[in-house]
Amino acid sequence: MSKEIYLDNAATTEMDPLVLRAMLPFLKEGYGNASSPHALGQKAKTAIEKARNIIAKSISADPSEIVFTSGGTESNNFAIKGIAFQNKDKGNHIITTKIEHPSVLNVYKWLENQGFKISYIETDKYGFISSKELDKAITKKTILVSIIHGQNEFGTIQDLETLGKVCKKHDVYFHTDACQSYTKTDINVKKQAVDLITLNAHKIHGPKGVGVLYVRKGTRIMTWQHGGGQEIDRRSGTENVAGIVGFGRAVELGLNKNHIKAMRKLKNILIKELIKIPRVKINGPRDERGLPNIVNAVFLGIEGEAIVGLLDMENIYAATGSACSSNKLEPNPALLAIGLMPQEVNGTVRFSLSRFNTEKEIEKLLNKLPGIVEKLRKFSPF
Ligand SMILES: Cc1ncc(COP(=O)(O)O)c(C=O)c1O
Repeated sequence: MSKEIYLDNAATTEMDPLVLRAMLPFLKEGYGNASSPHALGQKAKTAIEKARNIIAKSISADPSEIVFTSGGTESNNFAIKGIAFQNKDKGNHIITTKIEHPSVLNVYKWLENQGFKISYIETDKYGFISSKELDKAITKKTILVSIIHGQNEFGTIQDLETLGKVCKKHDVYFHTDACQSYTKTDINVKKQAVDLITLNAHKIHGPKGVGVLYVRKGTRIMTWQHGGGQEIDRRSGTENVAGIVGFGRAVELGLNKNHIKAMRKLKNILIKELIKIPRVKINGPRDERGLPNIVNAVFLGIEGEAIVGLLDMENIYAATGSACSSNKLEPNPALLAIGLMPQEVNGTVRFSLSRFNTEKEIEKLLNKLPGIVEKLRKFSPF
């Protein structure tokens, strides 16, 4: 059987062996509880603080502004609900977009039943939010703006600096979900007026089940998880020491402009060849305003599911919708939001790359794909 080719890195990534190596001592002999005052506990605490420093530095934040969580979903829930409930006295209006991850959109569905009003601003056909539209949407009751940084289906990178300035002008909190963009484009809380940032480890060759919420100093946010007072009382629970150590190591290994260049090179090769296949359309920006690792293509007239299924038989793994919602049958709302027709959404495949992919792998994909498309089109009623 040929070696598998993994092109679903926006769903999750393979753990870097060096990350695993850094984690293992904390799953074995270094099993101490970071709250214990004895040497074993303090060793765990020191390791957590080292990871906190690495992550803080990577976004130009202060270590005290980094809160470890169980992942992107928890960080998004914490940020949005935490701001909403702590700032109810100021207003009940929140602004977001239709291209957010389900771990954001489903929080809003719940908040709507709790008396909050949510506005969804439109994007252009590439998935960009206009700062003018955002400016117009903010009212006296607005307490939070939450906009995804790197979109998980088609890779659009929002201009946080410009959007953040609008939020600052109106004195409104600004949250961004940066799970997909972290280490793939710059995040700098000194330049970008973002108050809360969601990050996670498993999209950057780290372990699953660990994330971060960056919370700017002075932000009024409600604590959700009460208990032993860990994470300066903002998120109680015995820390996932090995996971946090792995996250820190993944950031150290991932922050390298050469990785970005290498992924973008593969992305460009892939797009150049994909558009040679008849009736193929690329979604999202193809230039530097898109993530270096996501290629989202519509194969008109055929089902993305069928393409992904036939690729799977060749040990090539790609995706149709977002992994987090692919068990749902309705067309992906983010793709509808950038103007795709439902039948186009059905014909969509997402190829997401990582720094571990090679040109040879892309060549193999491109050797198989035109034949698969041709075969499926023969059976297509469209
Ligand atoms: C943009 C985005 N936000 C949040 C999440 C959820 O993160 P986690 O899987 O760590 O809960 C994901 C993962 O699919 C994601 O792509």
